[in-house]
Amino acid sequence: MKTIFSKLLTNFILTIVICLAIAGISLSFVIRNYISEQKENELVLKAQVIAQSTKHFFVKNENPHDYINTINHLDSNLGTEVWAVDENGIVIAAAAEHLNCEGSKLSSAELKEMQSGRLTVSNGYSEYFKDPVIRVTTPIIDKNKVIGAVIVYSPVKGIDEATRRLVFMMIFAAIISLSIALIFCIYTSKKIAKPVQKMAEASMEVADGNKFTHVPISTEFKEFNQLAGSFNHMLERIEQNEKRMKDFVGNVSHELKSPLTSIKGFIEALIDGKGKTAERTQKFLSIMDKEANRLIKLIDDLLILCKADSIVKVEPQKINIIKLIQEVITNFEVNAHQKLVSFKLDCASKLLYAKVEPHSLKQIMINLLDNAIKYSPENSQILVTVSPNSNEVEISITDRGPGIPEEDIPNIWDRFYRVDKARSRETGGTGLGLAIVKELIDKNGGEISVKSNIGKGTTFKFKLPIAV
Ligand SMILES: Nc1ncnc2c1ncn2[C@@H]1O[C@H](COP(=O)(O)OP(=O)(O)OP(=O)(O)O)[C@@H](O)[C@H]1O
Ligand SMILES: [Mg+2]
Repeated sequence: MKTIFSKLLTNFILTIVICLAIAGISLSFVIRNYISEQKENELVLKAQVIAQSTKHFFVKNENPHDYINTINHLDSNLGTEVWAVDENGIVIAAAAEHLNCEGSKLSSAELKEMQSGRLTVSNGYSEYFKDPVIRVTTPIIDKNKVIGAVIVYSPVKGIDEATRRLVFMMIFAAIISLSIALIFCIYTSKKIAKPVQKMAEASMEVADGNKFTHVPISTEFKEFNQLAGSFNHMLERIEQNEKRMKDFVGNVSHELKSPLTSIKGFIEALIDGKGKTAERTQKFLSIMDKEANRLIKLIDDLLILCKADSIVKVEPQKINIIKLIQEVITNFEVNAHQKLVSFKLDCASKLLYAKVEPHSLKQIMINLLDNAIKYSPENSQILVTVSPNSNEVEISITDRGPGIPEEDIPNIWDRFYRVDKARSRETGGTGLGLAIVKELIDKNGGEISVKSNIGKGTTFKFKLPIAV
């Protein structure tokens, strides 16, 4: 399998090689064309000047052999040759290297070019030269008649040689830039690959359950820093969740164990039968019944909490909350009556629609009212107020109970948290009621607050969006 480093490196090198090849090939073409164009222009100019100065020989019917020879002599080191041909295309003057061609006739193609009366430039093989040449044919015209021509030959080899040298220079430059680019991309690819590798190692460790290694967030790359930041944040969340899970399992085991131990103790006493009286048996059975009820309540609360936990997104509905709150209060009436506690529902109208998931609101009200009754003194009143404003409705539950100490308030939402453990156990509380309330309020996108005065009472308040 490829690593990021090797993949980046191959891509970098490939890109550089392709770019350099394209640049090199196109540049050598452009330069070759430019050089040959320059050369052709130069030859055309030369041919025209020579043709001009040779014309009088042809007009006077004299042989320009010596004149042409002198010109060729001057240019001998440049490889350029100047020839003169008569009106029939017979070579009357050639350079020293091709004196043997004098007297021979031009090829039909060359003859045609000359007789056209126009200056022609051609590029390629000629029967007189073994390498390709540029040939400029300049006809000499007198009285509208071609009376001869000057032909300039120049080897293409020079152009090729210049282009080759240029290509070599370019290859050399390419090798140097490729080496620099190689060093640069090894450095960059390593820099890019390193943080990813670190993150991969860290996540492997987390996956193996070894430890929560945080990755550094001080790389050069903004995206990696963001990724590392989210990765570390995720690690913290996993750590917290793991701790919460452990605490939760510990608490659940503890809460389950104490009633079970108590039930087991009484069962053993009953089996033992020592000092068994009908009255004692009745007492044991009634304690066992209470403990069993505690277990059932604990498990019911755990199931509610588990359900609330697993909700990803609640589906709020438009419901008449006054009706729902009234129903919950009515269900508590008997319970409250036993404790000589009364309810007062304070709201402006009997009809008020809010957007909330009905089961959530019902459970929230049950848990808050259950606490209010549990902690209210006898002959006191629990006040439930529903006060709407333009887009929200505020619901508050106030009791005249003992209140919650300031320092405990931040913790009352925690699972299994009870302010007075001993008292709570007596009242049958498991410390899950407010945890369920908090979870459901969160899932419905709301917020809940509490205000408490020691010895005077407690008020829980939360808001719901009004439905139109
Ligand atoms: N209205 C209240 N007045 C005084 N203390 C309260 C009130 N409501 C809650 N508390 C305190 O907050 C703690 C947590 O409340 P919560 O409802 O979560 O648990 P619980 O009532 O003890 O048990 P459960 O609701 O599971 O039966 C309670 O133990 C109690 O100490
Ligand atoms: Mg409660």
